[in-house]
Amino acid sequence: MPRILSGIKPTGLPHIGNYFGMMRPAIEWQERGEAFFFIADYHALTTLQDAALMRKYSRGVALDFLACGLDPQKATLFRQSDIRGIGQLTWILGTLTPMPMLENAHAYKAAVESGGGAAVNLGLFAYPVLMAIDILIYQSNIVPVGRDQKQHVEMTRDLAIKFNRTYGETFTIPEPSILPGVETVIGLDGRKMSKSYDNTIELFADEKALRKKVMGIVTDSTPVEATKDPDNSAIVALYRLFASKEAVEDMERRFRAGGTGYGDFKKELFGAMWTYFEPMRRRRAELDADPGYVERVLATGAEKANALAEKTVREVRQAVGLG
Ligand code: TRP
Repeated sequence: MPRILSGIKPTGLPHIGNYFGMMRPAIEWQERGEAFFFIADYHALTTLQDAALMRKYSRGVALDFLACGLDPQKATLFRQSDIRGIGQLTWILGTLTPMPMLENAHAYKAAVESGGGAAVNLGLFAYPVLMAIDILIYQSNIVPVGRDQKQHVEMTRDLAIKFNRTYGETFTIPEPSILPGVETVIGLDGRKMSKSYDNTIELFADEKALRKKVMGIVTDSTPVEATKDPDNSAIVALYRLFASKEAVEDMERRFRAGGTGYGDFKKELFGAMWTYFEPMRRRRAELDADPGYVERVLATGAEKANALAEKTVREVRQAVGLG
């Protein structure tokens, strides 16, 4: 059985872009192998420097994952920072990592180009090395990620190959599994849904907040009676994720026919979205009612993940001649 691993940064509560792009496909993997998913809190520290928010989002991401169907009997869910040896191995791998490789990383380059200045910290620069260790420490075979993370998995492979060549076969070389199609969920303003654009819709926002978000989707000023273009509408793009094929075709037809305003279409979208997440929302409330549940799942997960990590730490220390 392949070992599958992926991580999600707790820099906010999950939104529907995270759900379709990462969470749902990741959850499907639990049926196909030995799945490990973790909350990448060390990575989040490179941009989120507020202890209360860090705790809130770490628990929130774990709870949402469980509510959406991650089954702790099948998959291992844990917090990155609960794994002993991550920091140690990141240091060791860092000594084999060429600076130019890191200077070439998209995320680092983007931060520098957007005038990052002091916000471009050593942690952000070393981000790919930490991510490589996240993957290698469990000897993972498959890493399901969105397209934006492909370069990081390629760097992981290069670093693992370099380590093995320098010190002898130690790390399994992982393969990325790029999640298809749906990863570009459209946001409220018609751009890709992303926390950095502030155009997201939280998965489990309450009814009033969600309704307000949906009613705030950016539209043009086409009058109610006029014909509208369903192919250029964030409303229709989002509706496709939640409604049946027939319902989508019906909405597209009514866009073209004219006579219905954007406000009415937004109400339909809201209804579809609310219904879609209803079972997960109910499950989330149940799990949340047991205050120790998430912590218990994460503690059990950390134990399992630590057992694998410890073995790799021993092998690496041995390989490089430490201790
Ligand atoms: N960098 C990933 C992201 O921003 C999160 C992540 C951290 C990750 N470590 C990982 C993903 C290891 C896959 C494997 O989405």
